[in-house]
Amino acid sequence: MAMATGTAILEAFYQAAGQFVPADHLAKLLKTSAGQVVAEITGLEQLGYSIESHPHFGYRLLDAPDRLTADDIKARLHTVAIGSQILVFEQTSSTNDVVEHMARSQAGEGLVVFAESQTKGRGRHGRAWVSPRGKGLWFSVLLRPRLKPVAAARITVAASVAVARAVRKTTGLDARIKWPNDITVRGKKVAGILTELHAEGDEILAAILGIGIDVNCRVEELPANIATSLQIETGKPQDRAALAIETLAALDECYRAAQTNFDALVTEWAAWCTTLGKQLVVTMGARRIEGHAQALDDDGALLLRRDNGQIERILAGDVVVEK
Ligand code: BTN
Repeated sequence: MAMATGTAILEAFYQAAGQFVPADHLAKLLKTSAGQVVAEITGLEQLGYSIESHPHFGYRLLDAPDRLTADDIKARLHTVAIGSQILVFEQTSSTNDVVEHMARSQAGEGLVVFAESQTKGRGRHGRAWVSPRGKGLWFSVLLRPRLKPVAAARITVAASVAVARAVRKTTGLDARIKWPNDITVRGKKVAGILTELHAEGDEILAAILGIGIDVNCRVEELPANIATSLQIETGKPQDRAALAIETLAALDECYRAAQTNFDALVTEWAAWCTTLGKQLVVTMGARRIEGHAQALDDDGALLLRRDNGQIERILAGDVVVEK
């Protein structure tokens, strides 16, 4: 498929890394006239891009808006599977619902749907997920993994490592993983993962991976005491598009590892995990299990050793206490 003109221009700007790109280079790239290049540049400026134009040197990108656009993300993303199609909505109910709908209409693996805000963002166990407009990354990814449904927890492990890796790289914060699906900074949650499955018999037809990252949320926009944001933790606003790109790039690698080299993924997971080695109380509905978190097994289940020595295999639940 031909690359959208906005994507092609932005890709040229990002490759030039702040230097001028000659107008005739852009015209050649877009297979169009200089006049059309001016129109495309004007279109980007209307979206909030700050672009300097020079009669001899051409154009250069000075600043990008704090706004997610599919063109911008595609221009900077070089992945194998994740991001085969990227959509950005101003508002959705839940991005997981949009992806689920598209999965039923045969959308391909790697589709990513972002929303600037969600009216019905949801977390695990049917809890609401607050998604203030333009303050975070609220997105879902369509996966069609070559995994058995019993090993679906590997996807959440992959996503946890990807988010932790991207947060660490873009902010320098000491992001940690709290089993099963939280990313934390200094003990407070900054991101959550919701993996929803469609399986038939022994086959996963689709896994819808929903990720919410509190990027630039203010204290009053977050659930009191338990949550934080990257802006709160670093003391400055963070570049959402850059974080989105790092997260998708990391997810591309981690998702591949989940299917082909899970041991290596678990090693990275374990290095950042706050849950292993702790005495836990895990609740699963009415069931409550206490024990010592030992390891992840090959399916991504947490192995908990009870006081009587018995090993419990736990696939999901709420960790109440980490001692
Ligand atoms: C949790 O911690 O309970 C999981 C939170 C997952 C939130 C994300 S935001 C994007 C996607 N759409 C949703 O409705 N939920 C996930």
